[in-house]
Amino acid sequence: MKGSLLLISSVILLTDVLSGCPPKCLCNRFLKTVDCRNQGLVEVPSHLPAETQILLLSNNRIQKISQSAFVDTLALKILDLSNNSITGLLPGTFKELQHLQILNLTKNFIEYVDNKTFSSLSRLKELDLSSNNILSMPGTLGKNTGNITLLSMKHNKLQKVDRLLLESLPNLKVVLFKGNFWQCNCQVFGLKLWLESFLYRGGISDSIICSAPDHRKGKDLLRIPYELYGICPPTASDVHQANALHYTSEHKSSPKLAHHNEHGGDSSRSHCEPKPKPRPVSLRHAIATVVITGVVCGIVCLMMLAAAVYGCAYAAITAKYHREKNSSGKEKRSLEEKESFERSLA
Ligand SMILES: *[C@@H]1O[C@H](CO)[C@@H](O)[C@H](O)[C@H]1NC(C)=O
Ligand SMILES: *[C@@H]1O[C@H](CO)[C@@H](O)[C@H](O)[C@H]1NC(C)=O
Ligand SMILES: *[C@@H]1O[C@H](CO)[C@@H](O)[C@H](O)[C@H]1NC(C)=O
Ligand SMILES: *[C@@H]1O[C@H](CO)[C@@H](O)[C@H](O)[C@H]1NC(C)=O
Repeated sequence: MKGSLLLISSVILLTDVLSGCPPKCLCNRFLKTVDCRNQGLVEVPSHLPAETQILLLSNNRIQKISQSAFVDTLALKILDLSNNSITGLLPGTFKELQHLQILNLTKNFIEYVDNKTFSSLSRLKELDLSSNNILSMPGTLGKNTGNITLLSMKHNKLQKVDRLLLESLPNLKVVLFKGNFWQCNCQVFGLKLWLESFLYRGGISDSIICSAPDHRKGKDLLRIPYELYGICPPTASDVHQANALHYTSEHKSSPKLAHHNEHGGDSSRSHCEPKPKPRPVSLRHAIATVVITGVVCGIVCLMMLAAAVYGCAYAAITAKYHREKNSSGKEKRSLEEKESFERSLA
């Protein structure tokens, strides 16, 4: 009786700790909000209530976020980590947050963004990476991030951003670029084209102000005429692609495919390339066929040989039998003849 009471009370105590509010935080059970702002925290508090949907951690001194920091708060919709001291994000940190819609990382010291860090956040709508030290953005944020409507990259150390990254976010409404080290050389051409089309479709953006080369410093990317960018010298991959194009158009003589190849990347090229793989397969088939045929022929030959031997033996035996039978018959007959001859003589 006492033992079970103790058990019950300890269970109650445990659940209280588990679903309770971490020290230094204010929890609102009805709004499902945990507010830990301005508390000088150096890490994400553990034992957060599992039903938390809004977690406010701004204005603290969080430097590192462990991979398991959010494994108990799977219902999170808004996560505010702004104004902390985060220097990097492990690729799996936000992996489980399937309901996250707003992620605010502004005012930290992030230098590097991995292409896996946000890749599983399929509900993510707003991603604020402004005011960090980001040197380059990945080529993609992952194929599940297509719901992003706001992306802020302003006030970082970016020199360029891949047009493919922006093209992979079809629902983008607001994109912010201001305050970076934009290089307005021939490579920025794709970004200019994308931005013009984005603004034409009603997208909202601030301006991309060039910081290099020197003669374009302080100028707006959109106001520099196309002619002035110059054409980038072909890179090694361009040459390779051109060769592949030449090869396919020569060997397949399909103008549609070749045309597609010009615009598509690696994926479309792999469709057009001549397929070297079937050859070993058919070779293997041929070898198998030869082997099987050989075995079957061998068996048939052996059977024929056996039949021939058997036939010969049978023929020999029957011949011998007939000969014996004949000779015994002849003896009989000659005996009878002899008898009848003797009788006739008598
Ligand atoms: C950022 O957080 C610090 C405390 O860590 C605070 O003193 C400062 O005012 C905050 N900055 C802003 C802009 O809120
Ligand atoms: C991120 O937080 C800052 C304040 O810390 C705020 O000004 C900004 O609007 C927030 N960004 C988003 C996308 O909500
Ligand atoms: C992610 O980036 C790495 C190199 O940083 C690259 O090898 C990989 O292909 C990228 N993944 C995707 C899905 O783009
Ligand atoms: C966008 O979000 C919806 C749910 O709100 C989800 O079903 C869908 O898969 C998401 N789209 C992408 C591209 O991940």
